[in-house]
Amino acid sequence: MEQYIIKGGIPLVGEVEISGAKNAALPIVSAAIMADEPVTLENLPDVNDINVLLESIEKIGAKVDRIDRHTVCINGATIRDFSVDYEYIKKIRASYYLLGSLLGKYRKAEVPLPGGCNIGSRPIDQHLKGFRAIGANVDISHGTIVAKAEVMHGAHIFMDVVSVGATINIMMAASRADGRTIIENAAKEPHVVDAANFLNSMGANIRGAGTDVIRINGVSSFHGCTYSIVPDMIEAGTYMCAAAATKGDIIIKNVIPKHLEAISAKLTEIGCEIEEFDDSVRVVAARRLLRTQVKTQPYPGFPTDMQPQLSCVLALSTGTSIVTESIFENRFKYVDELSRMGANIKVEGNTAIIDGVEELTGAQVSSPDLRAGAALVIAGLAADGFTVVDDIIYIQRGYEDFEGKLRSLGAEIDKVSSEEELKKFEFRVG
Ligand code: EPZ
Repeated sequence: MEQYIIKGGIPLVGEVEISGAKNAALPIVSAAIMADEPVTLENLPDVNDINVLLESIEKIGAKVDRIDRHTVCINGATIRDFSVDYEYIKKIRASYYLLGSLLGKYRKAEVPLPGGCNIGSRPIDQHLKGFRAIGANVDISHGTIVAKAEVMHGAHIFMDVVSVGATINIMMAASRADGRTIIENAAKEPHVVDAANFLNSMGANIRGAGTDVIRINGVSSFHGCTYSIVPDMIEAGTYMCAAAATKGDIIIKNVIPKHLEAISAKLTEIGCEIEEFDDSVRVVAARRLLRTQVKTQPYPGFPTDMQPQLSCVLALSTGTSIVTESIFENRFKYVDELSRMGANIKVEGNTAIIDGVEELTGAQVSSPDLRAGAALVIAGLAADGFTVVDDIIYIQRGYEDFEGKLRSLGAEIDKVSSEEELKKFEFRVG
């Protein structure tokens, strides 16, 4: 199994370029099959989840031409199968977006129920509620969601929970229903807006994405297009926290500063200097940072996907910080690993009480999930000595060339897969 080996204590300095957003690319790749013409997607992140999803749409018959690492041409005209294999949903939950796209285009879809994952139970009741509201029959048999619709009509849907996935999935299906759908209490994340903009570039008629009321007038067909994926705000936020934790000075390029506002505000509050430019931000952390309180919220609040990374920064701040995770029920699994590096954190229910320490020390730790894994790398970059991070497969699902981008900022980090490589790294960096 591959690992990261890190020699910590080096302030990150320099420039890093952000890739396209994984959480926008997943629904957009799923929606691209809804046109029977070529759809070219640019600025795709080269991460495992996207590569697996591209395999899954190829498996049901779509034509997929990889033009380069970040560009793909998809044509859904040759799709003959409307049932997604379990192996894909097991690998990436977001294969459930194929429910919305296949149902919208073909009025039928079979997708295995996604299981839970390391951060919580992850129900999809709101997705199914939306599909039923626009006329689909949705049953679950033998672990598979079977959705069919004779006629799909508009509906007025009030979401019980603000859900990114359900908002996007319903938007995809409703974009091809006969009539007008209104989604109330919709999620407002930038990747919801990107998915709506993409659907509209194929000929959909969607208004209001980015607000909590989305209005969709169904259309009968989509045409091809070329579309570029929005920059990844969570990847950007992860590098912002890495600069904060290592007392660095970095410029993060290819971002939309507006999407980072909650992260920038929080890092500024604890003592970072943040400068915003048109499509980049500069983060400087000259001295030890301060304590704060933070509660994760749907956008534009502080993102749950940034909670582990900020907690690592706060583990080194002065004073006691309080972090409350209000979106998922099990998103503090990294705390035990962080404590092995000397952090002083107590988790009570969905709240972490973080007593900042002067220094973390390197250790062998394991990534419980994608964002927690990235957070442990941040801790290793800040810690004194060597840190080995296991199970980096989770991190590679959502971060393109993580070790390469960090090395370009001066980090001493390598991907290794054997004891021998581990020793070589330790010898080389001393
Ligand atoms: C998306 O997951 C992201 N994944 C997650 O990022 C992110 O943490 C989450 O949105 C919140 O921003 C992708 O976009 C692929 P939700 P999603 O539906 O859509 C409850 C990462 O690290 N809920 O917004 O599955 C749910 O349990 C990943 O990149 C229901 O109750 O999240 C949670 O408490 C991790 N019923 C809350 O809503 C439903 O039908 C928000 O979940 C759906 C969700």
